[in-house]
Amino acid sequence: MNSLKSHQVAETEPKVWYKAAKIHDFPMDGGACVKYKGLQIAVFNFNTGKEWYACQNLCPHKMQMILSRGLTGSQGDEPKVACPYHKKTFSLKSGVCLNDEIEAISTFPVKVDDDYVYIGFSQ
Ligand code: FES
Repeated sequence: MNSLKSHQVAETEPKVWYKAAKIHDFPMDGGACVKYKGLQIAVFNFNTGKEWYACQNLCPHKMQMILSRGLTGSQGDEPKVACPYHKKTFSLKSGVCLNDEIEAISTFPVKVDDDYVYIGFSQ
């Protein structure tokens, strides 16, 4: 069992842990898109794979499937992603937009086990 730090968003344990891909299938300190039941999910690792986050790939600003290709960084302790189109920036913990009044994005818990990245869903 791998004990890498993972990020939990949901207050309750997810019903499904989706086995997304191996750790090394994701670019280090970057994002990639995976699909789950027709949803596009952006998955990011920070700190050279020691912290993982997941959110919807859809940017709510102009409804573009793009967030997995966004610029990542942090604002204080808050990991964030900036959409490459118009730089709307979202917290990868709460999903809240940090630089505009637009709606929050959905975020999902991530865990790493035995070199695989899992994303938690409620169904
Ligand atoms: S489409 Fe993402 S910021 Fe405009």
